[in-house]
Amino acid sequence: MSVPVIHTIAELRTIATGWRRSGATIAVVPTMGALHEGHLSLVRAALHRADRVVVTLFVNPKQFNSAADLAAYPRTEKEDAAKLASLGAHLLYVPGVAEMYPAGFTTTVSVSRIGEGLCGAFRPGHFDGVATVVAKLFLQTGADVAIFGEKDFQQLQLVRRMVQDLDIPIAILPCGTVREADGLALSSRNVRLSPAERAVAPKLASVLQETAQRLAKGHPLLPTLGQARAAILSAGYREIEYLELRDEADLQPMTRLDRPARLLAAAWLGDTRLIDNVRTSPA
Ligand code: PAF
Repeated sequence: MSVPVIHTIAELRTIATGWRRSGATIAVVPTMGALHEGHLSLVRAALHRADRVVVTLFVNPKQFNSAADLAAYPRTEKEDAAKLASLGAHLLYVPGVAEMYPAGFTTTVSVSRIGEGLCGAFRPGHFDGVATVVAKLFLQTGADVAIFGEKDFQQLQLVRRMVQDLDIPIAILPCGTVREADGLALSSRNVRLSPAERAVAPKLASVLQETAQRLAKGHPLLPTLGQARAAILSAGYREIEYLELRDEADLQPMTRLDRPARLLAAAWLGDTRLIDNVRTSPA
């Protein structure tokens, strides 16, 4: 079995229109490829939720801050297609840059507040790039439901906000973060870790988990976050970009844990930037 691969909006529209006419529901799983078990869990959720599943593979230049990072992004289309075929996905849509952003393209979708701070503060323009491409993918597929991982929690909440604000008729289905046995969140960037870095990497997840539990028990926010930062750095992480407690729904900063929240972090291990987040709420 193989998965049909298409490259143009016209082909996508023809196929999706046929599906809809036959009464089938459509789910879309937006990806940048280099598929790992985390992505595959999203595809499985999509297959449960809809009759037809379109996986999109587009390494979106508008969401990269550096040309080097864009060039280094892993591209494994053949392997990705084989993995999707074995799951039973119905279509792999791989548009080129000129298909997505033809000459004269000037529109940007920008979601304020929720896209500011956290990753938005360290990757200027990143979330405008994400919102713009995701809006296009939703409009191109006309899907009924889209699946996003909680690993990129700020992205998930930003997409939800955008869909609500722009009245895009699509349901957003979140899926929990998939982790290695030692707790490290799956990420396409994990392959860049040296063996020594890979041994240290799970510390980010374990510190977040312990910190979330401490906060839930009523430990004061600032000293507890300070201890967490120290533990991450002393484990071998080079730099912490942010480690913050944010309201789970609107991602606004919190000064104490008085409602459901997320503890979110981004940190550098050698030359690799890792992000993670965990849920916490008052006991
Ligand atoms: O999470 C990703 O892989 C990307 O940000 C997305 C949603 C596919 C948009 O390019």
